[in-house]
Amino acid sequence: MSVDKTLMLGNWINQCDNIVFFGGAGVSTESGIPDFRGGDGLYRQQWDYPPETILSHSFFVKSPEVFYRYYREKLAVDDAQPNSAHLALADLEREGKLVAVITQNIDGLHQAAGSKNVLELHGSTKRAYCVKCGAEYGPDYINKGDGVPMCRLCQGVIRPDVVLYEESLDADVMQRSIEYISQAQMLIVGGTSLAVYPAAGMVNYYSGDKMVLINKDATQFDRAANLLIKGKIGEILARAWKY
Ligand code: OAD
Repeated sequence: MSVDKTLMLGNWINQCDNIVFFGGAGVSTESGIPDFRGGDGLYRQQWDYPPETILSHSFFVKSPEVFYRYYREKLAVDDAQPNSAHLALADLEREGKLVAVITQNIDGLHQAAGSKNVLELHGSTKRAYCVKCGAEYGPDYINKGDGVPMCRLCQGVIRPDVVLYEESLDADVMQRSIEYISQAQMLIVGGTSLAVYPAAGMVNYYSGDKMVLINKDATQFDRAANLLIKGKIGEILARAWKY
């Protein structure tokens, strides 16, 4: 980790009060949740189908049993705790510096750390609903059981409130995310391969001169960053900010 770059990040944070954070699975790896495309990511693990197939709408409809086996084992992580990245971002919001966290993560850890304005582009494993009647359920109802959870009211299939492949992102969440990014004084992007669209393309709406990219591996947006820091985001944010 470069000390100079981390210092510069700290200076920029001190100068700004309209900071937006845009992140992905790499923000939660220091909490023990594997990412998708990093070294130990879910794409490198053995399973009968690739994650994009299992996590697709058509697969959920066709094979909900397999979907739920994968979902419970890999995604519905209940015991993870926020790490220094989540905590530093929550602190920045409390201090009036950061206005929004935009995340592709579905683990609810930003809220657990205390962040209030969290825009979840891909939904959350903390909510579920019946596909037939829309009745809402908490996470335990689908995470703790076996097989495919069914609605108590109408016997419809219950699904987690996450965006599956082949499905659209929520238009309102997308619109608000774009507004935050286009108006941001400083954009911190971190823990994301920036490989999955439309989420990744949102970074292009930033028009300022303080885009910081913090990631372990290279991304296609590295050259667009005004400050590129390679390393662990939890360590870097904790060091850059007084937390
Ligand atoms: P990826 O797994 O594609 O990328 C995570 C990135 O974080 C990788 O580039 C890692 O190098 C980096 N990384 C891992 N740990 C880190 C750490 N401690 N500090 C800094 N960087 C770290 O995850 P996403 O970009 O979030 O979508 O993936 C986007 C979407 O693909 C996910 O939301 C999910 C997935 O399919 C859906 O499920 C719809």
